[in-house]
Amino acid sequence: MKKIGLIAIAFFVMGTQNVSAYDLKKNMFWLNSEFKDVQQGFMTSDPKKVLRSIKTFSGSAKEMLADKDAIRHMFPKGKEKQVTEATNAAKVIEVSVQVIIDEIENKEKHSELVRRENSQSAYIAIESACFRCHNIVRDQ
Ligand code: HEC
Repeated sequence: MKKIGLIAIAFFVMGTQNVSAYDLKKNMFWLNSEFKDVQQGFMTSDPKKVLRSIKTFSGSAKEMLADKDAIRHMFPKGKEKQVTEATNAAKVIEVSVQVIIDEIENKEKHSELVRRENSQSAYIAIESACFRCHNIVRDQ
């Protein structure tokens, strides 16, 4: 009986430790699929699709990457010093999302060409920021 109790406790503890790692993966896959929609919008030159998908993506990105504590929480042990750098990568995403929205909604009254180029560059900046943080996390 005692043994079974201990095993149950062991499984419970293992379970709770895995929950946050699992959630992080699940959330990152979600973010990834929303980002793919944005890419598709750009590749087919469909500003309506870009606008719709970037707004959806923006909500998830903010939820996951907006504050330093959340990022610290998702970081592996021994990488604490790089949390600020990762937070900056996350900020690049937020700023670039806004550039894309502003250009598509023509808030700055740029020419068609400038709007297209600025929003495409901002899209690339988002992807680089994903890579930046992943490299920090994954470098040995
Ligand atoms: C602030 C840091 C940070 C940023 C920015 C970030 N990620 Fe992640 N990402 C992580 C961490 C931490 C993991 C989990 C550890 C790992 O996979 O190495 C992860 C994992 C992933 C995974 C793989 C999950 C797996 O199980 O292999 C995908 C896909 C992913 N991220 C997509 C994205 C996309 C797309 C972006 C940009 C829009 C992005 N991430 C931006 C920190 C970040």
